[in-house]
Amino acid sequence: MKAAARARANIALVKYWGKADDGPLNIPAVGSISITLDALWSDTEVQFDEFLATDELTLNGQRRPEQHDRVRRCLDLLRARAGVEHAARITSRNNFPTGAGLASSASGYAALTAAAAAALNLKPTARELSIVARQGSGSAARSVFGGFVEMRTGTRPDGSDSYAEALMPAEAWPLELVVALTTRDEKQVSSRAGMTRSAATSPYFPAWVARNQPDLKQGREAILNRDFESLADVAERNCLCMHGAAMAARPPLLYWNGATIACLEAVRELRRTGVPVFFTIDAGPQLKAVCAPGESEAVREALTDVPGVLDVLQSGLGPGIETDPGRWSAQ
Ligand code: PMV
Repeated sequence: MKAAARARANIALVKYWGKADDGPLNIPAVGSISITLDALWSDTEVQFDEFLATDELTLNGQRRPEQHDRVRRCLDLLRARAGVEHAARITSRNNFPTGAGLASSASGYAALTAAAAAALNLKPTARELSIVARQGSGSAARSVFGGFVEMRTGTRPDGSDSYAEALMPAEAWPLELVVALTTRDEKQVSSRAGMTRSAATSPYFPAWVARNQPDLKQGREAILNRDFESLADVAERNCLCMHGAAMAARPPLLYWNGATIACLEAVRELRRTGVPVFFTIDAGPQLKAVCAPGESEAVREALTDVPGVLDVLQSGLGPGIETDPGRWSAQ
């Protein structure tokens, strides 16, 4: 009863920020659109063991008991389906900094869900995996799929229609991504806590939710038409709207540092000089620059020169979950 899986991180261009429910179902208040990356991944191995008292997670060599509730939530759904009660030993490793706003929970919970399902010999559809992964981390529902992905909020109270779907394959428009790393520290306020606080206290939160449908429509159409300008327009606006809602929360949530702003200026300057590139920023100070195919070298050079940038990561678009017990060992 052991299996392993690899899942990639994803970056949202129309963002998920806020929940429709306070409970374990973890239904998002807004739909989102993301790209799955090929260079940033989590490798996760799950072993169910009848002699183990409780589920145990080791992430990058360290025990992470604060994640146990969310881990148990995903595993319980799969255990119930398989009719198995054993606890599981989970060993996971990220090939990029964890918890610093680089979508490690997305790749982590997607890999956990796929590995656990395989270890239990279940054969869920990608949609079913997406629904389970959502309950570990909302953005993980999207990492089940590769390329361009859309997550729907759904309308059913049980969350059975709240899942991600593939929008367009990576090969159809091989955009490139450059991440400017401005800290290696884990963030102070998790996405989960940040979005709950924004929804409860930010006067701009209702406006953020009201913008979601038009932003999804523009994002979806821009992707399907490979309209870079329109995608840049909606992605930057959507990102700043999310951060605007977060900044107006009580107490305020400011995820950026000085280097984040300097990178944002650098991206705008590149665009003024004709480079097709736009920025997006998640719940952390890293800036992600998305550019047209073949443009990432120029973007990497420009961001490397920005004071305060510690490192620069480059990635293309990647596939969805891969399950291959022989190949991926997280040990
Ligand atoms: O999946 P979570 O709970 O880590 O939330 C992700 C939130 C953002 O990264 C800020 C936006 C998104 O859609 O990925």
